[in-house]
Amino acid sequence: MTFTGKRILLGVSGGIAAYKAAELVRRLVSVRARVKVVMTRAAQEFMGPLTFQALSGEKVGTALFGPGSDPLEHVSLGQEVDAIVLAPATANLIGKLAAGIGDDLLTTIMLAATKPILVCPAMNDQMWANPVVQENLDRLQARGFQVMAPESGDLACGAVGLGRLPEPETIVEALARLVSKQDFAGRRVLVTAGPTHEDLDPVRFLTNRSSGKMGYALARMAWRRGAEVCLISGPTALAPPYGVERLMVRSAQDMLKAVRQRFPKVDALLMAAAVGDYRPTHAKARKIKRGPQEEQFQLTPNPDILKEMGALKKRQVVVGFAAETHDLEDEARRKLAAKNLDLIVANDVNRPDAGFQVDTNEVTIIARQGEPLRLPLLTKEEVAEIILDRVVELLTAREQGTTGA
Ligand code: CTP
Repeated sequence: MTFTGKRILLGVSGGIAAYKAAELVRRLVSVRARVKVVMTRAAQEFMGPLTFQALSGEKVGTALFGPGSDPLEHVSLGQEVDAIVLAPATANLIGKLAAGIGDDLLTTIMLAATKPILVCPAMNDQMWANPVVQENLDRLQARGFQVMAPESGDLACGAVGLGRLPEPETIVEALARLVSKQDFAGRRVLVTAGPTHEDLDPVRFLTNRSSGKMGYALARMAWRRGAEVCLISGPTALAPPYGVERLMVRSAQDMLKAVRQRFPKVDALLMAAAVGDYRPTHAKARKIKRGPQEEQFQLTPNPDILKEMGALKKRQVVVGFAAETHDLEDEARRKLAAKNLDLIVANDVNRPDAGFQVDTNEVTIIARQGEPLRLPLLTKEEVAEIILDRVVELLTAREQGTTGA
């Protein structure tokens, strides 16, 4: 798992959003990170160190000097951890970091820090709009700090505007990229996900049981590993993965248009969508009314998006998915050849714990050469990691001029 064994330094400065930092610690601990919290003096006006100590299980850093302070922490902490997150980062903290001031434990740690840093500003909307704050953030970004844009909404001061601390789960997602290997850095990945809706009339459509979870997991994990990711999604209730560009489509024809447009620019296509094979030949412009007679619908085959991309591909790695009820590996191999794919990920949808709607999957990954990789039941994120490992192997082999098949 992305955070297992990773050590995170959380710097909390003095804003009302400091209360959300407690939830951030809880979430980080729940994904197995080890969290060391350092609070500024002003942060301690909003939250007690004991809360953070109880949640993190580690002593909280509160002062450079005085009882309980460690004479070396101000240098070592920012170097020992895997990543640093400042949440909330007040305008004052941002100003001090930009100017190189170290007048307390947190800012001194930051002066000596060598690890990736995520800054999560939270403040009143007028403070956020102040050019000096923006200039300071530009300076931090120019020095390699990652800055998360604040969210818009109700602010503690009563105003409505930009300045809210992003939700803890979003911060965890942004931080995940900072602690992940970056083997997709500089690479573009196109992922499709979810079902398609093929309209019968303005209120009814043909669809399938796909939830989109496998495709969303692929998009999320590829982004964590440094890729620039575009996710073309059929209708789902899933939230867009952080950092990923998401295009929503409805029908197979819409999806084809979007994929066609993006495909030439990407390094890999992961076609996890469950594309409807047929659409009603004559979608009705008006709602179909109930009557005593039998209704008949004529269906027209949809274009095979993956097959078209397989035929067009040049340097891209193209991955298909096969959800089967019978002859799993034979069917998958047939599709691998027929659609000119590099990999196919096959799963048996008869199983209740694999495939549609659930968070787990049991798949077999088949390449053009070599033995199939039969995986045990795993979470969709774990499956996504293994698929991405295979994709990066193929991409690297291509870049080095070996076949990689
Ligand atoms: N696919 C596609 N366009 C379609 C149908 C499928 O791009 N019109 C893609 C899917 O996204 C998947 C792969 O092809 O990656 C295999 O999908 P599947 O439905 O299993 O294959 P079909 O070719 O439709 O075969 P069948 O339904 O007969 O099993």
